[in-house]
Amino acid sequence: MNIKTVMVIGAGQMGSGIAQVCAQAGYKVILNDLKDEFVEKGLGVISKNLSHQVQKERMTEDEKNNILSNLVKSTNLGDAKEADIVIEAAVENMNIKAKIFADLDQIAPEHTILASNTSSLPITEIAAATKRPEKVIGMHFMNPVPVMKLVEIIRGLATADEVYQVIEDMTKTLNKVPVEVNDFPGFVSNRVLMPMINEAIYTLYEGVATKEAIDEVMKLGMNHPMGPLTLADFIGLDTCLYIMETLHEGFGDDKYRPCPLLRKYVKAGWLGKKTGRGFYIYD
Ligand code: CAA
Repeated sequence: MNIKTVMVIGAGQMGSGIAQVCAQAGYKVILNDLKDEFVEKGLGVISKNLSHQVQKERMTEDEKNNILSNLVKSTNLGDAKEADIVIEAAVENMNIKAKIFADLDQIAPEHTILASNTSSLPITEIAAATKRPEKVIGMHFMNPVPVMKLVEIIRGLATADEVYQVIEDMTKTLNKVPVEVNDFPGFVSNRVLMPMINEAIYTLYEGVATKEAIDEVMKLGMNHPMGPLTLADFIGLDTCLYIMETLHEGFGDDKYRPCPLLRKYVKAGWLGKKTGRGFYIYD
């Protein structure tokens, strides 16, 4: 199957990053969100990222403009009728995703693959909202999308082999590395990452060390680019809590119990970098 047009649903941090790497790879990209201002904001981030590449002399002004011309704004889900693949990067809420996928199933041509960038929701359940579960798949990009090499590709129970192959090939054209995983809570990335972050929060909660000390141990001792508490702030503490709850509920094992301090911060609205305060304070 020849993919030419990609529709990205959600122009936030993940959606705009996905749109950027697809446009850079030469695909025509329809960037969709609920309001024009959200799409504009996403395009602004993409333009800023590309200007940075021009400044670094990794790309010419012409190349930047070419990439920007691959992007089309959309606030109408009906534009999915033009798409060969839709990559959904909306909020992490099963009801919302199920509704989007059911609508897309009605609108998109028969050949269109419906992918979700969900970080932990079951692909099989999202697929069940459609009449084409064999064409539904997880495409989990990492944040920041333009920098991180991994795309975790998640097979739902019914995902067809040929659909998996198309997505694996497309991922390579984005200059990313595909890794195949099956549909279990948290997949591989968040099943391993989030308990580490949660444990770092427990060590803070129990007074084992300061937040700076915990981050320093993991940065300098384990060569992680960011300490786990900094990373939690970067991901968003609400997202971390949501994923821990998904693991806890999905496996029913107490080892995934979210730390009470994480719950407290989320209740306080201290969600990390995006709200200006999490474990650290941001300007
Ligand atoms: N968008 C585009 N480019 C970005 C960026 C962004 N949001 N953030 C950083 N960059 C670029 C910078 O422009 C810089 O590029 P140049 O070399 O061209 O200048 C490069 O990345 C390095 O940035 P910095 O020098 O500012 O800082 P750094 O060396 O600390 O790198 C980082 C920043 C890449 C974010 C690095 O700290 C890192 O890898 N952190 C860990 C990220 C991580 O673990 N991500 C996964 C999160 S989990 C997830 O996404 C899944 C989930 O479901 C929750």
